[in-house]
Amino acid sequence: MSEPRQWRHKDLLDVSQLDRDDVAHIFEAAAYFQEINSRPVKKVPTLRGRSVVLFFAEPSTRTKTSFDVAGKRLSADTFSLAKSSSSLRKGESLKDTALTLQAMNPDAIVIRHESSGAAQFLAERLECSVINAGDGWHAHPTQSLLDAFSLHQQWGAMDFSGKTVLILGDIAHSRVARSNVRLLTMLGAKVRLCGPRTLMPATLKGWPVEVCPRLDEAVRGVHAVMCLRLQLERQQDGLLPDLREYAVRYGLGLRHLKAAAEDAVVLHPGPMNRGVEINDDLADTDQCLVLDQVANGVATRMALLFLYLTRKSPVSGYATD
Ligand code: CP
Repeated sequence: MSEPRQWRHKDLLDVSQLDRDDVAHIFEAAAYFQEINSRPVKKVPTLRGRSVVLFFAEPSTRTKTSFDVAGKRLSADTFSLAKSSSSLRKGESLKDTALTLQAMNPDAIVIRHESSGAAQFLAERLECSVINAGDGWHAHPTQSLLDAFSLHQQWGAMDFSGKTVLILGDIAHSRVARSNVRLLTMLGAKVRLCGPRTLMPATLKGWPVEVCPRLDEAVRGVHAVMCLRLQLERQQDGLLPDLREYAVRYGLGLRHLKAAAEDAVVLHPGPMNRGVEINDDLADTDQCLVLDQVANGVATRMALLFLYLTRKSPVSGYATD
């Protein structure tokens, strides 16, 4: 068990703010809350009286529901605000919307926004904790934490040295890829990228990765493949000539895993485009951890709400009776 300490962070903007000790505390707390999620009664009073605003200016199924479930299981009050039903639609600025929410004195605002830097913009102006639920192409820290927690449980280790993770698909537009490269390499894994040249970042300067353009070569010896969703809403026209051709060259199927390490697993942040990014023959097998990722997402977000709202050490601070 990790050493007790105060949680020193106010906001979660990306995983680059965290060190390995922080990540170990998050995983330890997530494992604790995972057990609570398996009980017949899945609710504890830990965050009773606290309030969390879920401010989602972009669509979301998993992340928003997961934070909502996580907050409610810890007895926090959660309030949802969507762009379509907020005064952002009437021209109110992000700053004024956020200051209005702050005036209601929440303990945390979880924000998803199409602009990279939106979460940081709020964090610099608000007293409450700001948790980034995905900002533009920049970062999706809670997704990468739940992905790494899923691999941590699969591999039974905190240190990912000796493991290679292939990230496959639309790297250029993916905040999930960016946060995962940062976190997986921090934990010691090697990261390999594969995807069409038009969907690779213009420069990979500063990315500690290897690139392998052909999928059949890229999968060789890897311990995990992380498929990405094609971010069609962020792509310019012409980057992807044909979905069928993409599926043939980059769609992951069961046959590809024959070249991977024994017991290799597959992740996808969702929503999955079956038959394009991942084939049915793989998506429905035990090697595909997509539903484990969703379940682990609730536990990971419970851990994050606990840590950011109480600022207590995960080993001494639980009040779960
Ligand atoms: N993985 C993820 O962010 O999914 P949603 O867009 O459904 O939240």
